[in-house]
Amino acid sequence: MYTCRMEKYLYKDLEFRTCGGSGLRLPIVSLGLWNNFSFEDSFDNIKAMLHTAFDLGITHFDLANNYGPPPGSAETNFGRALSDGLGVYRDQMIVSSKAGYGMWEGPYGDGGSRKYLISSIDQSLKRTGLEYFDIFYHHRFDPNTPMEETALALDQIVKSGKALYVGVSNYNGEQLVKMHGLLSDLKTPFIISQPSYSIANRWIEENGALSEAKKLGLGTIVFSPLAQGLLTSRYLKGVPKDSRAGKKRWGMDSRVNADSISKVKELNEIASDRGQTLAQMALSWVIKNDSVTSVLIGASSPKQIKENIKLNPIFSKEELDAIDKIRLI
Ligand SMILES: NC(=O)c1ccc[n+]([C@@H]2O[C@H](COP(=O)([O-])OP(=O)(O)OC[C@H]3O[C@@H](n4cnc5c(N)ncnc54)[C@H](OP(=O)(O)O)[C@@H]3O)[C@@H](O)[C@H]2O)c1
Repeated sequence: MYTCRMEKYLYKDLEFRTCGGSGLRLPIVSLGLWNNFSFEDSFDNIKAMLHTAFDLGITHFDLANNYGPPPGSAETNFGRALSDGLGVYRDQMIVSSKAGYGMWEGPYGDGGSRKYLISSIDQSLKRTGLEYFDIFYHHRFDPNTPMEETALALDQIVKSGKALYVGVSNYNGEQLVKMHGLLSDLKTPFIISQPSYSIANRWIEENGALSEAKKLGLGTIVFSPLAQGLLTSRYLKGVPKDSRAGKKRWGMDSRVNADSISKVKELNEIASDRGQTLAQMALSWVIKNDSVTSVLIGASSPKQIKENIKLNPIFSKEELDAIDKIRLI
């Protein structure tokens, strides 16, 4: 049985940053439930991770309709944890979900149509048992749906009380500008962009997603800041069976190879010279950029979450140059 501390010091460990020009403040570290929160995982460990995170001041939990396996099971487990006790703190939490990737059979379970987004949020609310999401995202740009239709669906979701704010994920700078124009006309609270970003993946510095979000007054929460575990100590001594690479998930088994690990070892030396673990340095590197509102981490144990909130975003020029020289892609 896990209960949260609810001490007045609950929020002392973590910095909160304002999400763009909105009134919403997010913790610099947020927890995502993409992996390790499904029906295949231990529910005791899931609860322990959620309560550990919340106790540390991680108030933001990120879901999507398809997180599992099977798709939907992470939302169901999150709902179970809420009804097992965590739900007492609902008003101290920011819970997000998304739709945009393939979720169910047929033409209405994928993309950016009004039909898909509205049916999907109804399903997600049922699975989690929530009355509303704090943030609801369109999960990826859909070239086959007019953006006006997606924008109107997001607007309807807010105006019907199913979400408080909306965001988009995996949109580039140009797509953000267009969506922002449409949602501004509708006065929809569009406050956040969710792209991937890490030492090993800097695409948002080049495709305008980071700079346009800043100009538009959107917050940016970045996913996979640890490159799915590569930028940690997880693979320094081989591939553990219970790791993402060990389970052959999301191409991690090929990303962990002799070349990548030799670079990870070089990064690990820089981190230890800074008095940090590699995970702490990788997260600190991301949040040193004040255009980033929050890093959205994944985890498989409470221990990883505890390690990941000890950040220090101050880097010397020498450290930054040394990190840049190690081209880990
Ligand atoms: N919008 C999108 O399209 C999209 C896409 C992907 C992710 N996301 C969101 O972003 C969240 C995070 O993504 P992610 O899981 O790829 O993030 P990540 O933080 O880059 O990777 C998390 C993995 O790194 C390992 N790890 C974390 N801390 C560690 C530590 N201190 N020491 C050793 N290993 C550590 C764990 O791997 P093991 O499991 O092997 O222990 C953990 O599962 C997702 O849950 C989801 O909410 C969004």
